[in-house]
Formats: sequence, C-alpha cells, structure tokens
Amino acid sequence: MRLPDGFLDELRARTPLSAIVGRRVKLARSGRHWKGCCPFHNEKSPSFYVYEDGYHCFGCGEHGDAVGFLMKSQGLQFRDAVDLLAAEAGMDVPKPTAEAAEVEQRRLDLHAVLEAAAALYQRRLHAREGARALSYLHDRGLTDDTIARFGLGWSGEGRGGLAPALAASDIDVPMLVEAGLMRESDDGRAPYELFFNRVMFPIRDRRGRVISFGGRILGDGQPKYVNGPETPLFSKRRTLYGLDLAREAARKGAAIVAVEGYMDVIALHQAGFHGALAPLGTALTEEQLAEMWKLSPVPILSFDGDAAGQRAALRVADVALPALTPERSLRLVRLPAGEDPDTVVRKHGPAKFQDYLDLSSPLSSALFGLMQEGVPNTPEGRAGLRTRLEAAASRVADKALSSEIRSALLDQFFAARQKPARVQTSFARRDRFGTPLKPPPAFTRPIPGAEAASSERARALVAILLRHPFLLPEIEEAFGGLDLPDALATLRSAILHWSAAAQVLDSKALITHLHEVGMAAQAAHTLSASPVPLPVCASEAAMPAEAAAGWWHFFGLMDPGRLENEVANASLAFAQRADAASQRRLVALCTARDALRGGRIGWDETGADDG
Ligand code: UTP
Ligand code: MN
Repeated sequence: MRLPDGFLDELRARTPLSAIVGRRVKLARSGRHWKGCCPFHNEKSPSFYVYEDGYHCFGCGEHGDAVGFLMKSQGLQFRDAVDLLAAEAGMDVPKPTAEAAEVEQRRLDLHAVLEAAAALYQRRLHAREGARALSYLHDRGLTDDTIARFGLGWSGEGRGGLAPALAASDIDVPMLVEAGLMRESDDGRAPYELFFNRVMFPIRDRRGRVISFGGRILGDGQPKYVNGPETPLFSKRRTLYGLDLAREAARKGAAIVAVEGYMDVIALHQAGFHGALAPLGTALTEEQLAEMWKLSPVPILSFDGDAAGQRAALRVADVALPALTPERSLRLVRLPAGEDPDTVVRKHGPAKFQDYLDLSSPLSSALFGLMQEGVPNTPEGRAGLRTRLEAAASRVADKALSSEIRSALLDQFFAARQKPARVQTSFARRDRFGTPLKPPPAFTRPIPGAEAASSERARALVAILLRHPFLLPEIEEAFGGLDLPDALATLRSAILHWSAAAQVLDSKALITHLHEVGMAAQAAHTLSASPVPLPVCASEAAMPAEAAAGWWHFFGLMDPGRLENEVANASLAFAQRADAASQRRLVALCTARDALRGGRIGWDETGADDG
C-alpha cells in the first residue's frame, strides 16, 4: 500500500539526510553538500555526495532519498524504513484507508494517462502528420536530441482524435478530463479536447513525471500557447518548467537560471545551460522561488529589457524580499529589449548569454535600478523613491540582511543624486544599442594631493573600530596592512594589541584600555566631530552590518586594489563554506565595492551622512 505523497514529502523535509547517512558514513562538508566514501561499493577516495533531499554516488551510481538509504544500508522493507524515520521525526504514519488508497490509485492512473498522451504526441510528431511540426522545431534550431530530451510532440490536427487513440490503453473520457486534456462543455455537449494543431510541451514535476502540457501554435496565431488547467497533479504556481533537468544539473554545479518561456528553457539547455527553468506564463511565485532555493543559494533571474520585463522583475522582487536571508538571495539580469534567451543563444551564441549572466546584479542593486526607473528627478520624486526604497528594505524579514540592503539601496540613492548624469537606468549599464557594458573598473586611485581627505578617511576607519571593535577579527589582516598617518598607526598598534588579549571586544573596554596606556587624547581626537563630522557608520547607534559595510567602504577608498582582492577571497570562501559568516562578509564587501563603483566619493568628503 502506498502512502500519500504529501506524507513522504513532509517526512523527507523533516529528516536531515546528512545525519541519517552520517551514522554509517564519515561525512565532510563539500560546499553546500556533504561528501564521503560510498557505503555501497568499495572505494578509497570519496565520491558519495549527500544533498538536502538525496544522495548520489558518482562512483557506482547508487542514489536515493532517506528512505532508500535505510532500505539499502540496513536491508529494511520500505514500510519499516518509513516507520523508523517517522518515529524519529515525531510523525504518525497515516493508517492506510480504503479512501486514501483510492485517491492514490487515482493519482497513479492520472500519471499513466499523461504518460500515454505524451507518448502518443511524440509518435505523432515523428509520423507523417507531424512533419510540419517537426520542421517547425528544426527551423527553430532544435536538434533531434533536444526534441527527445524534452519529449516534444504533436497534438494532431483538429479535435476528436485523442480519446479514440487512447481507448486501446483503457483510458476513458472522464480520465482525460481529470488529467486536464479534455474539458466538459458548458452547453451539455460532449467533452472536447484542449490541445489540437499544436506542438506539445510535456510539463514534468521535479521527479520527471508528466503532470500537464503546454501547446504552441505553429507560427503566428492566438493564443500562442495553451496550458493545461489545474488538476490533482498539476498546480501552476508550484511547477517550474525544466525543474527535473535543472535539479540534476544543479548537482553537477550548473547555475540555476529562471527565464520566461518554454522555448527559452529548451534553447538554453541545448546551448549548455542545463540549470534553466521557467514559470508557466506567470510571474514567479513564492513557491517557485522556494523550489529554486533548494537548488542554489543564488539563482539568477533573467528578464526582457522592455517595460513588461521591468514590471515582471519588480513583481518578483516583491515576492522575494520577505523570503531573503543571507543564504537565499537572487541575482537579476535584463536582456536588451527585443531579445529573449532563445534569440540570444541562437543569434549570438552561448558565450553571449554567459556574458549576460556574468553581468547579473545582486537583487539589492538591481532593485534600485528598477525602482528608480521613470521616477522624475524632482524633490518630490526623490523623496517618494527614498521612502519606497526604505520600505522595500524593511520588508526583508532577516534583520541583518534588511539593514545591509537598506544601506546598499540608500548608498545608490545618494550616489545617483550626486552624479545625476550617470544615473543607471537599468541593472547593467548599456551602450546606445542596448548592449550591456562591462562593469566599470573599480574606483581608481584617490585623487593625488587630497591629503586632508585621505587622513579623514583613515580617521573614520579607525573611529569605526573604536565604536565597533567586534569587527576586529574580521578586518584585522586588511587593517594591519594599510598605510596610515603616524598618529593613527600608533593607535592601530594599541588596538590590535588589545584585541589579541581581550576577552570581550567591547567599545567601552577598548577606550578604557587606551586611557590606561596613555592614548586617551588620540582616541578622543579620532572620535571628535571636527574637523569633519564622522560618518553615521562610526556612531554608536550604527547597526553591526552598517559598521562592517562602512569599514570596507573606507578601506576601499584607501586601497581599491586590496578591496578587490578581499572581495575575490570572500567569494571564494563563501563558495567553499557557504555559511552565514562568510556570506555576511561577502555582502559587506560587495556593498562597499558597489558603492565605490557607483561613483560615490565617500561620506568623509561630503560631511555628515545624509541618511
Ligand atoms: P513568450 O511570448 O515570451 O513566448 O511567453 P516564448 O516562450 O518566447 O515562445 P516563442 O519563442 O514565441 O515560441 C513566455 C511564456 O508565457 C507563457 C508560456 O509559458 C510562454 O513560454 N504564455 C505565452 C502563455 O501561457 N500563453 C501565451 O499565449 C503566451
Ligand atoms: Mn521566444
């Protein structure tokens, strides 16, 4: 007797697979996953990977989920493995009822109906009647391999051919209606089929089972696509086209890229971007984002460059903001108007699309571009924008991240105000043909002769540490290597000396210590409001994230090359460890760097901070 799907999903979600496997196999972290020696074949170097929802051995090909692992490794029956895991997860295994059995049987039947239909459509595509459809797909650049991988088919011409063709497989009209392939008519006539004269795109669930179809008309005509209705198997808002293939690809390290259409997913897949997926003609939903975050901490979302693309991106941002955490972020990229990923790879090749991916921006910077697009450069316009930016940041539930995003957005807001001529109108700067330009080089050397400004920067840098010494372990090395004016260099030695021995990195304790070693005057001078007021990030009230980003900001002003190095090292560290601390560091560094690249000169030269 089978258990309801929902129960097993819940059980899997509540069972930390690495812990179950870890009892039998010595596991070590490997990026976001775990790695060890395969318990199912004899090996010396580890090729056995454990993911959130499954394990896979690249040596012997053994794979499965938590239930499967227990069955294989302990020789248990399915039901016994489920009982064991459920007991550990504190769940009651549902008693199989006749009713549940019927529902389950119905689901199995529906799957079978859809598989049979998919097979029929595929046969038709390759038969004489499908010749036009097949050449349409070839003309759109698809290879036979790709057509087979996505199971594309031909519905057949006109209505009335579906039920008779499937009758031999014991499939009746009510089942076709329930599977979403036929529809009851309102006026009492016989049910009629949804798809005819269309190229058929099977829509599959995460495990690769067909759950519905999309159908495209050959050439022009309306509606261009017809999609199956909601059924017991198919929920549009929970499904992503291409998810089954993207899941497999993500395990091999492919980037997860969300695009807008069926053909985009298919063309990208053929071009080697196996992590491509798409919602089904609607904006991405919360459920779809959650599904993508299971595959990657930073999926990339690609949008068209037109106004519709802007609206779609803003809608996604709206849905995504509350769910963002340091471990779950997004990058956005907008293609030039008139292009979609399919046309990009076909006209310009895969490398061009990769260029666009490389130019994608973190949601926080993309958001600014999106939100300020079309806002008039008047006091009212700017004030409204600023309020909306702050409101957007405050929708992020994660406190630390919310404050990071807030400062990133405000940073861009002030940068845009200082340099109205260079306001970004889109995520990536573009030339007049709409082609994104490479990101501008990092901030160049500080203006020679601006010595006063430079010593003010150094003072701000040290002041931030006097107020927020908790930053010391993280910045110690970078701090130690900076060229500082003599008085500040002496203060630095005292601070570093203190931090090496201090129990708690607390501002009061640090200042007391400086008093004790006769450096009270230097400390007071560093923290004074003259000759120029200190930036807000050096105030006691600054949030930790604000202080960290502020510190790196000034660091970058003093030594742009080192800042770039730190960013590179931090991304490497994040890629390897993927923990909250390394993400925080990376976010702080990127915020600082992006602010500098945006042309912002720095708080120190404009007096007190505006924000
Ligand atoms: P697009 O119009 O961008 O289509 O719609 P496309 O994917 O680029 O298709 P081609 O290249 O013209 O063949 C994007 C997605 O919106 C949904 C489909 O999921 C489509 O892939 N859509 C579009 C519909 O559901 N119905 C429509 O009539 C049009
Ligand atoms: Mn298209």
